[in-house]
Amino acid sequence: MIISLSILNIEKKDRKAQIERFMTSDSNWIHFDVMDGKFVENETFKYEVVKEVSKYCNLFKDVHLMTYEPTKYLKEYKEAKADQITFHYGSVTNVLETIKEIKKHNMKVGISVKPNTDVRVLKEYLPLIDLVLVMSVEPGKGGQKFMDSSLDKIRWLKENKKNNHYLISVDGGVNKETSKLVKEAGADVIVVGSYLTKEIITDDKIKELM
Ligand code: DX5
Ligand code: ZN
Repeated sequence: MIISLSILNIEKKDRKAQIERFMTSDSNWIHFDVMDGKFVENETFKYEVVKEVSKYCNLFKDVHLMTYEPTKYLKEYKEAKADQITFHYGSVTNVLETIKEIKKHNMKVGISVKPNTDVRVLKEYLPLIDLVLVMSVEPGKGGQKFMDSSLDKIRWLKENKKNNHYLISVDGGVNKETSKLVKEAGADVIVVGSYLTKEIITDDKIKELM
């Protein structure tokens, strides 16, 4: 299972040291939570943090846009060395065009569904995308409780993989207990924030999630 570290709640002064502690495995990812204060209430950073992290970290960069107009800064994200852009179903009027636009910038494409969105709305896009991000909390902040309703969505996505190549990722409230549930249901990637970042990141804590 891939672990994608959400750096949302790491203080700026600790960011580099914490990320470096996480760089023990090349298969790990870094997850960037971008919020615009409109699609969700809070506002965070944009591509500038991706660019800064890219200076010392070669891990796969997984950008989660909780914003309207997800195609607005694609050139900047690419230049900042982002590997994948995930946008929210419901943040755009034309899903197909958005997928195409991200691909045109040579980045992988993910689509995310909020807890109240039926995952089956993604059916026609599944052959075209690299990742589905199932939200197991309401997007907007870290440290919330995992919602079990995400498990059926993961199972459905696993059943519908067939010849499709997308990865199933789960975001929100993942810890050493809930990681077991999502793994059993069929997740390929877990996004982990506060469980790892509240303390100094250690190999033992990372292993507890596998
Ligand atoms: C929520 C974000 C998540 C979150 C994960 O809107 O998309 O990535 O920060 O943090 P934890 O693991 O604390 O739920
Ligand atoms: Zn996220």
